[in-house]
Amino acid sequence: MKCARYGLATLAASTLLALATGVAIAQVTAVGGTPEGAQIRNPVAATDASVAAGRAVFMEKCAACHGERGDGHGKGIGEYGTPPADLTRASYTYGTADGDVFDVIQNGVQPRLAMPGWDGLISETDMWNVVNYLRTLRRRS
Ligand code: HEC
Repeated sequence: MKCARYGLATLAASTLLALATGVAIAQVTAVGGTPEGAQIRNPVAATDASVAAGRAVFMEKCAACHGERGDGHGKGIGEYGTPPADLTRASYTYGTADGDVFDVIQNGVQPRLAMPGWDGLISETDMWNVVNYLRTLRRRS
């Protein structure tokens, strides 16, 4: 099967890369978040200005996949093996603590990266602004 062969080739290539560079293959993102994530303090206060800035970043970079309402119904849906997450749920698969959500935005969901990481593409302040915005989307449980 073509897909399976492509998958194996990709795996072999990344293993070779890891061997050649000595860099370990990225860790798998922890379901349920991490103890560290719960300890990290959000350095950006969730002011109206921060939430508005986070919303602007979300509309530009995230809405294509997650949808303008964050419910996972962006135009990108169907193009990825993994559907974009519904970010209006009360809690998230990879942790709901600010530090865990920040980690997912910065590094993506490893190792498949259907959710790409934004390290270097969005400033850390803006990532925290997005974290603050996502809090306003979540249904109260
Ligand atoms: C290319 C499409 C795409 C883009 C663009 C994208 N995401 Fe995602 N996102 C995904 C997919 C697919 C998943 C589910 C990944 C998985 O479960 O493996 C996901 C998962 C997430 C999660 C984890 C949800 C959970 O339940 O733990 C968060 C948080 C998230 N995205 C936030 C964002 C933010 C913020 C942006 C913009 C900076 C963004 N995403 C941009 C596709 C995308």
